Amino acid sequence: MTSAGATGASRLAPLAQGWPCARMALRAMKAIGVRRLVRPMAPADIPQVEEIEREAFPSSWPPSAFQHELHHNRIARYLVAVEMPQEGPAPEEATAAAPPLGRVLGGLRRALGGAAQAEERVLGYLGLWLPADEAHIIAIAVRASHRRQGLGELLLLGGLELARRHGRALATLECRVSNLPAQALYEKYGFRRVGVRPRYYSDNLEDAYVMALEGLDSPAVARRLEELKALYRSRWGEAGLQLVV
Ligand SMILES: CC(C)(COP(=O)(O)OP(=O)(O)OC[C@H]1O[C@@H](n2cnc3c(N)ncnc32)[C@H](O)[C@@H]1OP(=O)(O)O)[C@@H](O)C(=O)NCCC(=O)NCCS
Repeated sequence: MTSAGATGASRLAPLAQGWPCARMALRAMKAIGVRRLVRPMAPADIPQVEEIEREAFPSSWPPSAFQHELHHNRIARYLVAVEMPQEGPAPEEATAAAPPLGRVLGGLRRALGGAAQAEERVLGYLGLWLPADEAHIIAIAVRASHRRQGLGELLLLGGLELARRHGRALATLECRVSNLPAQALYEKYGFRRVGVRPRYYSDNLEDAYVMALEGLDSPAVARRLEELKALYRSRWGEAGLQLVV
């Protein structure tokens, strides 16, 4: 991730709450029983994200595309949805109890791989580009085995929250005209169709709808998102958003 700055982490409500560092935030969320977390994608997540991408989309990005996005695309932000392990020792305690070679390898893996944790399974991801005047959702996908369990919604909430924290007033995306599940997800969050890009997809020349959510920085949209978060919590339980602005 090219960005630096404040790490904000929170349960879905209250979202504005923050912790001084990501590790403390993770501990706090585990302590209160948060099972699902949306957090920034780390390089070590990429193999799992590529699996999800291959499963979800007819044509995949070339190898190393995600590496390029994470390390060189200054306007890109990627989030992953993970299920947090609740049982057993915390990762750092487990590492302390491991034999010396295991500790060294574990430390190296974390140093090379970023924040990803071996126990976490990546269940979905979202890609967001933040050019000067908008937030563009370039990809969202959930493992087929885990769809219809609120993960797409959680990722979208994370992406929209990140866009709001960056002060963007407009969110846009393209979606296949045949992709009714994705359109239903976006419409639930207030996106509306604003145009069509003919023959947009190279694999079958299908048209794309352009969808947009305006007023992302407005009190009305903020209120609607708070309502959706409250509904989300009551339906799916606690979840965490850990966002790097
Ligand atoms: C689109 C996608 C990300 C949704 O993820 P998901 O985790 O299954 O979605 P959720 O369980 O969070 O569902 C949230 C909302 O999305 C809509 N939705 C999701 N799947 C749906 C389906 N199969 N049929 C109708 N609506 C659906 C509903 O509005 C749902 O809200 P509800 O549960 O109150 O009805 C997932 O289907 C996916 O990965 N598809 C393949 C990749 C893709 O098409 N990405 C979008 C590219 S534009």
